[in-house]
Formats: sequence, C-alpha cells, structure tokens
Amino acid sequence: MRAFQKVAEKIRLDIENGVWRIGDTLSSERQMAQQYQVSRSTIRRAWEELETMGYIKWDAFSPPQVINVPQWPTAIARSSLTQWNQAQTKPVSSFLSDLMSAATSQARFNFEIGMPDASLLPIFELESVIRELFTQRTREVFSYSPTAGIDRVREAIAEEFLGRRNLHLSPDHLLITSGSLQALDLLSSLWIRPGDIVITESPTFAGALQIFRAHGAQIIGIDVGTEGVNPAQMKDALSRHDTRLIYLQPYYQNPTSVSMSEATRQALLDLAISYHVPIIEDDAYGFLAPGHSLPLRAYKGAEEHVIYINTFSKILAPGLRVGLIAGPPDLIYQLTQIKQLGDLHTGTVSQLLVEGWLRSGNIDQYIQAVRKVYAERIQTAKQLLPQLGFPIWGNPHNGFYVFAELPRSLSALAFHQYAAKRDVLFAPGLAFGTDDQFRHWIRLCVSTANPMAIHTGLARLSRLVKAYTDTPGSFGL
Ligand SMILES: Cc1ncc(COP(=O)(O)O)c(C=O)c1O
Repeated sequence: MRAFQKVAEKIRLDIENGVWRIGDTLSSERQMAQQYQVSRSTIRRAWEELETMGYIKWDAFSPPQVINVPQWPTAIARSSLTQWNQAQTKPVSSFLSDLMSAATSQARFNFEIGMPDASLLPIFELESVIRELFTQRTREVFSYSPTAGIDRVREAIAEEFLGRRNLHLSPDHLLITSGSLQALDLLSSLWIRPGDIVITESPTFAGALQIFRAHGAQIIGIDVGTEGVNPAQMKDALSRHDTRLIYLQPYYQNPTSVSMSEATRQALLDLAISYHVPIIEDDAYGFLAPGHSLPLRAYKGAEEHVIYINTFSKILAPGLRVGLIAGPPDLIYQLTQIKQLGDLHTGTVSQLLVEGWLRSGNIDQYIQAVRKVYAERIQTAKQLLPQLGFPIWGNPHNGFYVFAELPRSLSALAFHQYAAKRDVLFAPGLAFGTDDQFRHWIRLCVSTANPMAIHTGLARLSRLVKAYTDTPGSFGL
C-alpha cells in the first residue's frame, strides 16, 4: 500500500468509527500532514481517494467535508462489507456512475461523456423502424428473448455491422451483451482471478480499468505512443509477467483517439500468439476507420487469440445498451451461461431496433457522414488546445476525444468540481491511468459539440484554468 492509501485508510476508519461525522470538516491539509507525518501532497492524494470512494467532498477553497458514513446495521450489510473487502484488491471507484450523472447534466459545455451526436442520427429511418415494431410486432417486441441474442439480430450484426469491419463470422460466434461494458465484465468473470496480471494501454478506457480492478486484476500499463503501444515495451512486459490477458483498442482509442499503425497491430498480435496470451480487442470507435482497415480479429492467426468486442453506443445510441462479443462458439456458450445469471438477455426492444436500423439500407451514408463530422471536430480541438496552452496527446485524426494536459501541479479532479459549477464538464485524467501520472490531464469529448461550441467551450475552459490557478491556495489542490 502506498503512503496516501495508508492515510486514506486511516481516515476512512475514523469516519466509520464516528471520529468524523457527516457534515464535519476534516482538519486542514497542514494539520493532517503533521498528524500523519507525510507531505501535503500525500494528504491531497488521500483526500482524492476518499472522495472517489464517496466518503468526502472537497473543492479548491475549503477542507473536505464528510458526506457519507456507510452504516452496517444488519448482518447482511456487515457480511457484504467483509466479503467485498476480501474480494477487492482496491475499492471500486465511482467513475462510471459519476459519468452517468454527467449524461443528463444541463451544463452548457458538456465535454465529459463519450456519446455520438444525437442530432446526426437518421431519425426518419429510426422512426419508421419503431413504428413497424410497435404496431406490427408488438408481441415479439415485449417478449423475453434468447440469452445469447435474438437469432435474426445476430445475423444482421454479423452481416451488416461486422461485415463492414471486414470480419466474416457466423452468428454462433456472437453473444449480444448489454453494452460492451457487460462484455468486459463477463470476460473478466470468466478469466480474471484476484492477483492476475492484465496488460493495457496507458492511458486507456477508464471503464475497462474499473472492471478489471473490481475483479482483482493487477494492471500493467504500456505507454500509448503516436502509433499506439510500443511492441518492444509490450514484449518486455510479457516476458516479465505471467499475463492473464491483454486489453487493446487499436482504433481511435479512448481517451487519446490515437490509432495503432498497421505494423504495431501485427507486432502486437505476433507477441500475443508467441506468449499465448489472449487479447480483448475493443473496437468501439472502429466504425470511424477507413473501409479497408482491419481489426486485429481479422488478421491471419487471430481467431484463437483475439476476442473481439464492440458496441452500438458510439455509432448509434448508448441508451440502447447493445454490445457484442465475438469469439469461438465454446467461449460464447460459457459466457452465455454467466450472462443468464445477470440479466437473462439484452433488452428485446433495443435489439430489434438495432436490427431494423442495420437492415434499413442507409447505414453506409450515415457512417460516411459521421466520420466527416467527427474528424472536423477533432481537428478543431486539436488545433485550438495547444494555442490555448494545453498540449494534447498524440496526433489524432478522428475519434470522440482529445486528451489534454493542464498545468502540472493542478489536480484535474479538484478542478473538475470548480469547472462543473461554472458550466464546463470534462473527465479527469486520473481515471484513465494505470498509475497516477494523469492527475493533471483531462479527457474532452468533442463528438457532441459543433466547431463553434468547441471554440467557445475551450476558450471558457482556458479562462477557468487561469482563474483557478490564480486563486490563492487553490493551485496544486
Ligand atoms: C473503448 C470503450 N469501450 C467500451 C465502452 C462502453 O460502452 P457501452 O457499455 O456503452 O457499450 C466505451 C464507452 O465509453 C468505450 O469508450
């Protein structure tokens, strides 16, 4: 355990034992540093940890306040806590659930959540699909359906969606999941045991890190360069660690929108094959790639080494909660057995809506259009941020996000609260790292803002950074 975690643990126990109560203000940073014989930055890290766990709330201007003291009044509550603590190597953070609150926020500049722009959706096609479903197929729409996914939906996904990604699979290679987060959770349930090593890019999708950690994985991060992760670093990590799995996003990765070069993809696959380590390939943003580009799963020799996951959350609508896993039928069968315990099947209405949209005959036109729009938005943000004094990661050409660096001594987590009260939302970088190196970085989702809104919103962000860092006592919080 690192120093800040030890301090956070002591404060947590004090809160649970009633030393601090809801509404109490904790001692100042200086007093706590003296009390625990650590630096003030360690105290701030401990506060951040406690904030992530939901015990305290704090901002740049005042010491933290206790906002939640978990109560364990019953045997059930107490034993869940004990079991939970034994199972977890790290407390589960609230990153994803916090992000979901941002989805419905009315903030004027919401760069926090990664979503497609609803105003680009083919509303007429979707309307006619919905009308047909609700008037002519009412019984089917409101019925239970098979756990692995409705057959005709799996067929449509195989032909119309994966076919366009140059993957040619039969429907029995597919499991329809409730979003690709469920795909990650199912695969983790099957494969990860506490202490197992998982290698990921760093930075990478915070939700994946959250799930792997919740299953007890130890994460090894490999730096994302301009062409994706460096194969030499991957080789070094594989040769030093007995690795359970590798998680990669070869195209427009979240949060940097960097894509891997062809050579990198091939080299990483070769390494996975020679070290016998499966890769989970997350292709959430692959639809933005040129038509001829290949996911790893389409490479020669990948069938037995790459499990492919994807989602309709970025191409269509995240509220549908439709994702998928493509893998060998035996694995799909095992995952289906686990899925039945959780939600029985993915929503029938959502699946049929996806099928109707895929078969509408218009999706090529739509994909071409959104590729162009998102590329323009990324270009706008990519040019503007460095001009405003914020370097960005890599050189993205398309995607939903830019990953930007704020002044080094600023905590993006604390600044997030300050900016949110002033109408600007972003995702703090800490959640995307396998360690704490991104605490002064932020992820900005620009897919939902037009270039004008990007200009105005980023200029406002820049003024807020300046005002925040000029406020006495706030810098470095
Ligand atoms: C890379 C990546 N994978 C998976 C997901 C999860 O998407 P969903 O569960 O909505 O399918 C996201 C969402 O941000 C993502 O960026």
